[in-house]
Amino acid sequence: MRYGHFDNKKREYVIDKMDLPTSWTNYLGIRNMAAVVNHTAGGYMFYKTPEYHRITRFRANSVPMDRPGHYVYIRDDESKDYWSISWQPVAKPLDEASYSCRHGMSYTTYNCDYSNINAEQTLVIPKDDSVELWDVKIKNEDNRVRQLSVFSYCEFSFHHIDMDNRNFQMSLYASGSSYDKGIIEHDLFYEEFGYQYFTANMEADGFDCLRDTFIGRYRTEDNPKAVETGRCLGSCERGNNHCGALHKRFVLAPGEEVRIVFMLGEGDREAGRIMREKYSDMGRVDAVYDELRAYWEDKFSKLQIRTPNEGMNTMINTWTLYQAEINVMFSRFASFIEVGGRTGLGYRDTAQDAMAVPHSNPVKCRQRIIELLQGLVSQGYGLHLFQPEWFDSETEHKPFKSPTVIPTPGKDKIVHGIEDACSDDALWLISTIVEYVKETGEHSLIDEMVSYADGGEGTVYEHMMKILDFSAEQVGEGGICKGLRADWNDCLNLGGGESAMVSFLHYWALRNFLELAEYRGDQKITEKYEQMLQKVKEVCDTKLWDEDWYIRGVTQSGRPIGTKMDKEGQIHLESNTWAVLSGASGQERGIRAMNSVYDRLFTPYGIMLNGPAYTTPDDEIGFVTRVYPGLKENAAVFSHPNPWAWAAECMLGRGDRAMEFYDALCPYYQNDMIEIREAEPYSYCQFVVGKDHTAFGRAHHPFMTGTGGWAYFSATRYILGIRPDFDKLVVDPCIPAEWKHFHVIREWRGAVYRIQVENKDGVMKGIREIYFDGRKVDAIPVCEEESQHDIKIVMG
Ligand code: GLC
Repeated sequence: MRYGHFDNKKREYVIDKMDLPTSWTNYLGIRNMAAVVNHTAGGYMFYKTPEYHRITRFRANSVPMDRPGHYVYIRDDESKDYWSISWQPVAKPLDEASYSCRHGMSYTTYNCDYSNINAEQTLVIPKDDSVELWDVKIKNEDNRVRQLSVFSYCEFSFHHIDMDNRNFQMSLYASGSSYDKGIIEHDLFYEEFGYQYFTANMEADGFDCLRDTFIGRYRTEDNPKAVETGRCLGSCERGNNHCGALHKRFVLAPGEEVRIVFMLGEGDREAGRIMREKYSDMGRVDAVYDELRAYWEDKFSKLQIRTPNEGMNTMINTWTLYQAEINVMFSRFASFIEVGGRTGLGYRDTAQDAMAVPHSNPVKCRQRIIELLQGLVSQGYGLHLFQPEWFDSETEHKPFKSPTVIPTPGKDKIVHGIEDACSDDALWLISTIVEYVKETGEHSLIDEMVSYADGGEGTVYEHMMKILDFSAEQVGEGGICKGLRADWNDCLNLGGGESAMVSFLHYWALRNFLELAEYRGDQKITEKYEQMLQKVKEVCDTKLWDEDWYIRGVTQSGRPIGTKMDKEGQIHLESNTWAVLSGASGQERGIRAMNSVYDRLFTPYGIMLNGPAYTTPDDEIGFVTRVYPGLKENAAVFSHPNPWAWAAECMLGRGDRAMEFYDALCPYYQNDMIEIREAEPYSYCQFVVGKDHTAFGRAHHPFMTGTGGWAYFSATRYILGIRPDFDKLVVDPCIPAEWKHFHVIREWRGAVYRIQVENKDGVMKGIREIYFDGRKVDAIPVCEEESQHDIKIVMG
């Protein structure tokens, strides 16, 4: 069953059947102000941080689903009938009203046709202003004059997620509201920067600042008293719960249209006045869309593809990059599942996210790299979760301090010990840095001085070496990397045993680092890390292979995990993909390992993380054995590692297999089976329920997953094979044999490369000839900024 379709021209996803099984969300805002909203205008907004400065309230994981939101009601003042422009909250029967929702790049539009009135509401946050615009257009499509009322409604939050959910003896009496000069001001009195405003481009006929007055007793957003009776009561108060409700009456002649722009913003009444003046000019409102379009088009223009795979074109050209960018911006901590109570930077997640988009967001990737390096302890491990401002001397305003004493952690608490270190965290950063330099050519980054979390400083290069040395030191007796608290798999703790995956990851990081060291001509350093590489390789070859695939690790008591002897958790995806992707496995073992993955873990919805599922708690293996079979890390199709398998297959030259894996996970191809998938088909989800569960195929937790970045990385760099190097652009695809050609436009270091790949021989991998502007060459060079070049690649 389908609920919508992709509109590629507009880069929108259009939902036209509103009673979705779950919320389908979108992200607004690209700088300080941000909102997560769903297909029925439910959701919440925050300024900089959803933990300390949320602006609108959200009752997470509640009934009804996803309340409240940023709602606009319309009332027929003659018949007294009323509805909302988004299907929820009033929810007219779907056979009486027709609704649609278009999720676009940083905006969402709700549309409703009911009672001969067409109404549209777009939520959008301008690129550079901390205000959300609710751009409302109402058109009378009747042949008679209509008398209508429009009401806005949003519920203010007490800013701090904890204050908003408990201990109201403080917040409830510190939150106040007032109305003056057409502007509602919400004031969190005990906070220095505790103001928000709600206003519009018109003089309202009425207002309510008190939530409970607007809604009325024993009512909900479905049937607010003010809307039902057609008038607000002009409520406001010091203390209590507050809302942004403005009321306007108007008369529309047949065919007449009215446009109202509500504004919900950060700052006091004066800030509201400035924005009101600005966005009362409809030209300024229209320019907001143009600016956002330009912002996103600039990113998309760095890499656009045209291949025989429509799903891949749609996802790579728009949605997967969008998802990857959102992860770099929002750091995983704002969605309807992760509702903002745990913010900061997750070390491994941030490092991987920043690896995927240096071409479209070099500034943010660089910022993340520096923040992560500052979160590195001088011993060489990363702080698993930290607030970058802890180490940023330039931050003026520290996060809001609750009046209820929550002790500020001292440095000794912030810099956790090795007992809380994850064995993989910092290893990811090596390749992220190398990719950044290859993309931008900014070699000076490597010699920049950066502080360590526990004091002192060193160059980026030194930080990188500390990371590699740490993994070399943290090994068990046989030389396999220790798992420490956990590796990439949070739930596979091995009781502090050893992790095959991390040994392979170490190998990969070393290879990336060596490319850099060799390029710099640092002979001594190259020699040292070359030796380290060989040592790791030997361990990988001799300790980690088990008949037909690689083991996952060894528990504290010396029991190997992920072997043929295991009844449960017999084979794991992470170690096998990383054995191949890192280059450690070689071809023969690589093929055997990935064939085992295919035979034992592949499903129509993607590759399961492990299998068969664990059914008996076993704390020597870890928390994964206490997760229900088929969910999350216990034998679900955990999406994030799936692209590792695509890249691994490309390393082996098997383009058909890589594409089979790609297509299985691809949300686009699940557009018409939402009764199974449930979640949005324009975003990868953290996991898809595995076959050991009754809900096999149901996807959970959209947007906030490293899958966005990795899917983008593996598809573009491995399947399509477009890889920047230090001084050349590599094009080395691994595609299905049946693809006869594909096209890519890639901007790299300011020059545009129009790449045409020909595959007349029907191979999956291999380059026979490269033409650069018609000339046969061995490699594609770095070109002058703003120059344009035609590249032809002949496979064979
Ligand atoms: C979640 C975490 C990520 C971890 C993964 C597997 O996505 O954010 O850090 O690697 O789960 O456990």
